[in-house]
Amino acid sequence: MSFEVKVALLLLLAFGNEVRVNGDGGGGRQCEINPALKSRPHTVSILEFGAVGDGKTLNTIAFQNAIFYLKSFADKGGAQLYVPPGTWLTQSINLTSHLTLFLEKGAVILGSQDPFHWEVVDPLPSYGRGVEVPGGRYQSLINGYMLNDVVITGNNGSIDGMGLAWWELYSSHSLNYSRPHLIELVASDHVVVSNLTFLNTPAYSIHPVYCSNVHIHNVSISAPPGSPYTVGIVPDSSDHVCIEDCVIETGYDAIALKSGWDEYGIAYGRPTENVHIRRVHLQASSGSTIAFGSDMSGGISNILVENVHLYNSRSGIEFRTMRGRGGYMKEIIISDIEMENIYTAMGATGYCGSHPDEKFDPNALPLLDHIILQDMIGSNITIAGSFAGLQESPFTNICLSNITLSINSVSSIPWECSNVSGFSESVLPKPCPDLETPNSDCLSLQSIKGKTSVL
Ligand SMILES: *[C@@H]1O[C@H](CO)[C@@H](O)[C@H](O)[C@H]1NC(C)=O
Ligand SMILES: *[C@@H]1O[C@H](CO)[C@@H](O)[C@H](O)[C@H]1NC(C)=O
Ligand SMILES: *[C@@H]1O[C@H](CO)[C@@H](O)[C@H](O)[C@H]1NC(C)=O
Ligand SMILES: *[C@@H]1O[C@H](CO)[C@@H](O)[C@H](O)[C@H]1NC(C)=O
Ligand SMILES: *[C@@H]1O[C@H](CO)[C@@H](O)[C@H](O)[C@H]1NC(C)=O
Ligand SMILES: *[C@@H]1O[C@H](CO)[C@@H](O)[C@H](O)[C@H]1NC(C)=O
Ligand SMILES: *[C@@H]1O[C@H](CO)[C@@H](O)[C@H](O)[C@H]1NC(C)=O
Ligand SMILES: *[C@@H]1O[C@H](CO)[C@@H](O)[C@H](O)[C@H]1NC(C)=O
Repeated sequence: MSFEVKVALLLLLAFGNEVRVNGDGGGGRQCEINPALKSRPHTVSILEFGAVGDGKTLNTIAFQNAIFYLKSFADKGGAQLYVPPGTWLTQSINLTSHLTLFLEKGAVILGSQDPFHWEVVDPLPSYGRGVEVPGGRYQSLINGYMLNDVVITGNNGSIDGMGLAWWELYSSHSLNYSRPHLIELVASDHVVVSNLTFLNTPAYSIHPVYCSNVHIHNVSISAPPGSPYTVGIVPDSSDHVCIEDCVIETGYDAIALKSGWDEYGIAYGRPTENVHIRRVHLQASSGSTIAFGSDMSGGISNILVENVHLYNSRSGIEFRTMRGRGGYMKEIIISDIEMENIYTAMGATGYCGSHPDEKFDPNALPLLDHIILQDMIGSNITIAGSFAGLQESPFTNICLSNITLSINSVSSIPWECSNVSGFSESVLPKPCPDLETPNSDCLSLQSIKGKTSVL
């Protein structure tokens, strides 16, 4: 498929309500494929494995024994591990395929706060090292490795990472390894996370990496404003991901799409693509509500974000990259956005991040191209847009349409632009001339908008 046809297709998926394009499993509209949840023929309660829900007893062995037992039902339709009301303290748990972990209302899984309780695992190959400290990383609280058909759900039970101890270790530069996450699923297929509350993660709350067919639905995620670099959901080198009906409030980014770090991400070469995000309420105190990168060396493309409410944050929508990353961020549509109390509504920077080591290739330039932002309304915004492309790899085809931002009195210049080009239509305040280039591809993209049967 040629590039132009692909873009047209993507636009049809986004704008042509009457047109349904199949074949690629739904293209940009991943959330509309909603496979029915299988009910599991077998259920056991964690109580049957001697767990004690007093918030003090370590239940790691009970969880591991229960999951080991449930493995034997994998070829019999799978099984459910039921966690009743209570406070269940545990260290890392490894899940298994064809398993549902169900947390009843009032059930809280608590992560042990003692770093000596946490196993250290190898870095991810697409990062080459831990992202915070060189070397290994603490294993996450709930893990899946090369699994198929896993459901983590409940009746609003919660998973609490007790992050405070970890945030202090991070802030005082006392970490020996990179911090753990609440859930990490590696190289897994058909994963559902739903109907749960995630609290106080040490670092990320939900991290699918090298995964396909991930559905994150109706979860609430929260970490306090001061918690350093806490992130909600991080789709990382993963494809066919749907995130919908979630409320996320974090210290740093709410949703961050990634795909590996410099030479390691380039070598691993696994993009994040076909991601659909809709009906989410996001707050990101010191970061961005929706972030792309800065680790994007495997590429990020074919992303559709719609119907989002972004509030009380430093940045709304941000694309981050730097020299040495390589990769691309392209064919991304973000529409129906409501924002309030946001310092920078939208932006893209080619000067954000750090390198894993000295072996990065300074000539590996990232590409940012074909980004559509439309139907946006915002109040109490300080900077409407901040775009700083790389001189050797300017950002291209940034297409803005139907955007009205009310800028507060703190603002001096609402737009900052360098090494960027694109086109705008019905945008207030009036953008910088760089974003009003009539010869950009945005014109043809605009003319496709509204048509429903081009192909
Ligand atoms: C969990 O899996 C990881 C690797 O995926 C392994 O290193 C670790 O030992 C496992 N832990 C348990 C308790 O089985
Ligand atoms: C969301 O989850 C809560 C429990 O956490 C449940 O009561 C509610 O019905 C769910 N909503 C949807 C739309 O699934
Ligand atoms: C879900 O649980 C969280 C934390 O326990 C609570 O704050 C929230 O109100 C609950 N939501 C619903 C829909 O019951
Ligand atoms: C980190 O390593 C140092 C030196 O081995 C050790 O003294 C310290 O207890 C470790 N800290 C943690 C939190 O693991
Ligand atoms: C979430 O809860 C709603 C309402 O109880 C239920 O209809 C839905 O099936 C649940 N989703 C999952 C994945 O369990
Ligand atoms: C406007 O947004 C800023 C964040 O950029 C916030 O600090 C301030 O309180 C907001 N003002 C009002 C009146 O809500
Ligand atoms: C412009 O965007 C607003 C939402 O911000 C939407 O309600 C309106 O329908 C859009 N107008 C057009 C012409 O698409
Ligand atoms: C590109 O960015 C560089 C560094 O910020 C700046 O010196 C240069 O003037 C920019 N080029 C254009 C055409 O804006």
